[in-house]
Amino acid sequence: MNQEVAKIRIGELSVELEEHNHSYYVLNNSLISDYDFDMKMKELIELESDFPEFARINSPTKRVGGEISKGFKTIEHKYPMMSLDNTYSLDEIKEFDVRVRKRLDEAEIGGSDLLSYVCELKYDGVAIGITYKKGELVQALTRGDGVAGDDVTANVRTINSIPLSLKGSRYPEDFEIRGEIYFPHKAFEELNKAREEEGEPVFANPRNTASGTLKMKDSAEVAKRKLDCFLYSLSGENLPYDNHYDNLMAIKEWGFKLPYVISKPTDIEGVASFINEWDEGRKKLEYNIDGVVFKVNLKRLQELLGFTAKSPRWAISYKFKAERVSTVLNSISYQVGRTGAITPVANLEPVLLAGTVVKRASLHNADQIVKLDVRIGDTVYVEKGGEIIPQIVEVLLDKRKSDSIPTTFIDSCPICATQLEKHEGEVAYYCPNEDGCPPQIKGKIEHFIARKAMNIDGLGEETIELLYDKQLIADVSDLYTLKYEDLIELDRFAEKSVQRLLQGIEDSKKIPFEKVLFALGIRFVGETVARKLASHYITIDRLNTATLEDLVEVEEIGEKIAESVISYFQDEDSIKLVKKLRDSGLQFEMVESTTNMKSDKLKDLSFVVSGVFETYSREELKSEIEAHGGRNVSSITAKLNYLLAGDKMGPSKLEKANKLNIRVISEDEFKEMIV
Ligand code: IVH
Repeated sequence: MNQEVAKIRIGELSVELEEHNHSYYVLNNSLISDYDFDMKMKELIELESDFPEFARINSPTKRVGGEISKGFKTIEHKYPMMSLDNTYSLDEIKEFDVRVRKRLDEAEIGGSDLLSYVCELKYDGVAIGITYKKGELVQALTRGDGVAGDDVTANVRTINSIPLSLKGSRYPEDFEIRGEIYFPHKAFEELNKAREEEGEPVFANPRNTASGTLKMKDSAEVAKRKLDCFLYSLSGENLPYDNHYDNLMAIKEWGFKLPYVISKPTDIEGVASFINEWDEGRKKLEYNIDGVVFKVNLKRLQELLGFTAKSPRWAISYKFKAERVSTVLNSISYQVGRTGAITPVANLEPVLLAGTVVKRASLHNADQIVKLDVRIGDTVYVEKGGEIIPQIVEVLLDKRKSDSIPTTFIDSCPICATQLEKHEGEVAYYCPNEDGCPPQIKGKIEHFIARKAMNIDGLGEETIELLYDKQLIADVSDLYTLKYEDLIELDRFAEKSVQRLLQGIEDSKKIPFEKVLFALGIRFVGETVARKLASHYITIDRLNTATLEDLVEVEEIGEKIAESVISYFQDEDSIKLVKKLRDSGLQFEMVESTTNMKSDKLKDLSFVVSGVFETYSREELKSEIEAHGGRNVSSITAKLNYLLAGDKMGPSKLEKANKLNIRVISEDEFKEMIV
């Protein structure tokens, strides 16, 4: 493809993909199949890699992330990012209204006659200020201290409902739009589910997790987490309307997602009913709100009212009370997860909260215990706020007994007594006795048999407990030596259930390699990573001899995962376990259907395919490489065997290949290799 054509195609695809993105994420109306969308995105990614000079700064490819931030630059806000005055009572809202009217009348005779309010939801997330110039997103800053915030532009570009280039032409030349970035419940649940599968501790609070996610260094990780954003204000010169409401409505036309709920009450009764409606209605929303906000509508009146040192005088928020009750902390127990992470759990005097009896609350980690200074026997407040599990939020110190003792976090495993360890950069303590600590072993077995892993029918948590306690299984490999005679002896087992279990175990031997790899429970190797590794390495022998440099070459594999894979395959016990499982007949190789495999002429050879070709498309070439036993890799390193170069390949690739003495071959030369 020549430069001219590439430039045009990049432009076309950028506009088209952004249009589809808007339809899907803002209008909830998909106009194209996921497959076609992915294909177009892939085409754009490849074109941009070959012609980086034509890639737009707001290309839709930015939505998949990939930019790594070393640190976040702190940048001063053009308009300070203030906070809102809070109240918890309708009376205070009434007082606010009186104050506003008085000030307006003082500032201008009859000023209050023009007064009207807008009610909005108070989204419980992280504030963001996004600047657009000439219709292009140029910067996104967190609130920081209100005066200056962190530049998180690359991460914000991955949020699908935030337009990168605006639609139409009726937007101001230079403006800032502010809003709240949040986790929809569904995205938060999905994230936690994936973490559980990978043996990672789950997140408790969507707001804190949204905040942490925005500060992640790898924007590709952010892209996977599916954050969303509501926008609630515009700042800048030449805004289209003289009032907040109409300005907010106008942003829809520019491609933003509008808040679903916004109203203009005519009197204080209207305000009260908005509060009541949403105090109840929030339970059904797909995201958390922690209150409602009231704003003076006319910009001119906002300006007359101005600001106090920390908040505008023209707005106030009414915060919903998180439901909280007090109860007594009876004891703290410590749970050991599959990965050995220790979670402290508060055992409470049972108490009714938001319609359910609460007996336990999470204490998260040792830091949290120190922060709360919570002690056994204390009376504590328990809240069900934005969190999924109830939280202890405060200790009632005046009720503390004089003989109470500060809580010391355990230093050895509550189950196996092994000395606990801390991993660098993590708050959790871990029991390192992976292969000897019963809850870790049982947790690993549970993971192994799960539906998404070996899918062994007839086995559940309780049966595993029983088999483990009866010493019939000590690790997952023992499942494959279980005998009818052993099982039929057990209380819970009848003829039928024994048969079902043995059949389930037998059937699991046919489970494909990628699932077996996931089932092994290697840290950070979730379903997707396992699939990528399996299809890249094909056999466990190739995977377990891969070096760090090899592994990070594979799509989606970063250093953290690579290190974990390497340490797994260096561990004596894992080596033995894999051997036993292999001897039992489990799949440790991808079953390549012989019809797809054409030869092994390219066995052990790696290729980077770049540019445009005459007879094949890039995708066809990649499949040909695999069909002849070769491997496709993503970047040019010293280990690469061939760079298969087409027309108009980016000059930097060729330069790098030449520097590293990599053989560069043409399409014709490639064809020769496989005849
Ligand atoms: S207007 C000058 N509207 O609440 C501040 N804020 O406590 C004007 N928030 O940091 C803010 N929903 O991030 C406004 N509909 C809404 C909001 C909202 C959530 C957040 C905002 C701010 C915090 C203030």
